[in-house]
Amino acid sequence: MSDITILGIESSCDDTAAAVLHAQAGAARVLSSVVQGQTDLHADFGGVVPEIAARAHAEKLDLAIVQALAEAETTLDAIDAVAVTAGPGLIGGVVSGVMHAKGIAMARGIDMYGVNHLAGHALTPRLTDGVPFPYLMLLVSGGHCQFLIVKGPDAFERLGGTIDDAPGEAFDKVARLLALSQPGGPAIEARSHAGDAGRFRLPRPLLDRAGCDMSFSGLKTAVLRQRDALMDTGTLTAADQADLAAGFQAAVVDVLAEKTRRALAVYLALAPDDPCLCVAGGVAANMAIRTALTEVAAGAGARFVAPPLALCTDNAAMIAYAGLEQMATRGPDDLGLSARPRWPLDGRAPAMLGSGKKGAKA
Ligand code: KG4
Ligand code: ZN
Repeated sequence: MSDITILGIESSCDDTAAAVLHAQAGAARVLSSVVQGQTDLHADFGGVVPEIAARAHAEKLDLAIVQALAEAETTLDAIDAVAVTAGPGLIGGVVSGVMHAKGIAMARGIDMYGVNHLAGHALTPRLTDGVPFPYLMLLVSGGHCQFLIVKGPDAFERLGGTIDDAPGEAFDKVARLLALSQPGGPAIEARSHAGDAGRFRLPRPLLDRAGCDMSFSGLKTAVLRQRDALMDTGTLTAADQADLAAGFQAAVVDVLAEKTRRALAVYLALAPDDPCLCVAGGVAANMAIRTALTEVAAGAGARFVAPPLALCTDNAAMIAYAGLEQMATRGPDDLGLSARPRWPLDGRAPAMLGSGKKGAKA
């Protein structure tokens, strides 16, 4: 990586983001990272509405870019390259980002890199902690859930992932069932402190099946059944809420911990010099999950790395950084770059079916 300043653009879900990164002598520094959420716009609909998201990105992206340049105390004249999320995600938003990047690349005569959103998440531990390849990444957010062995800037091996809901999506849905606030993850975590996780028998889906695939949809339905049974005989008390929240969270923790143990075994067979388990995504904010993963990593003799939350959740600094890393392995994209609603990181892994409330799962 020579001396280079790169602009990143992210608009694949419900965050409009732009960032400026500077790299010199192999070290990258985030000069600015602007993230404009759209939570308010979607609040009445119980999920992200793709058309509303696309329109908001189209309206806000140039403002986010201007703000990112200003916060970095630079201008477009000083930008050497632009990296943009070209998928996977909600297609209207991705198109909006790609068109902005093409406009800037053409007007300024600079290189453009179309980046896979998941590669952005997966490479972040190198930006924040300089983690060497290969490392194991668990991506857990409202839209994604998968284990990846990250072998290079563009080399990923997918070991497994959810076959239905992402964990964050399950946290959000369960919070709604329990009449807790959104986003559901923090609400369930807070409520679970007062709860008895052992009061209800909730399933640990797919633990009886070999491999690293996961499922969270049946767990959510099990919470619904328990809630309905309680409401048939009275009202849902604060204690019921806390016990269901604690029981649900404990089940997610057990599933993630056991599947991580299995993924670590596959990864450690590669005999990495500096074994490392990394996490990214909003669900990684959960302390019970973090604690369990820290223990699992320690038990396997691996380091545990969780980037700061602002770089764990959707942002454009990770996209700029992935573009920067990929410059070393490939040439830039041309103006024929397409926006891709689906884009699996590991071309050899079987395609996943189904689409969550936050868009297609890769
Ligand atoms: O990565 P993220 O900000 O956005 C996308 O998924 O695109 O993740 C958001 C998800 C939400 O589903 C939210 O409920 C979940 O992360 N989340 C949590 C916690 N904080 C956020 N889940 C469990 N525990 C938390 N403390
Ligand atoms: Zn994401």
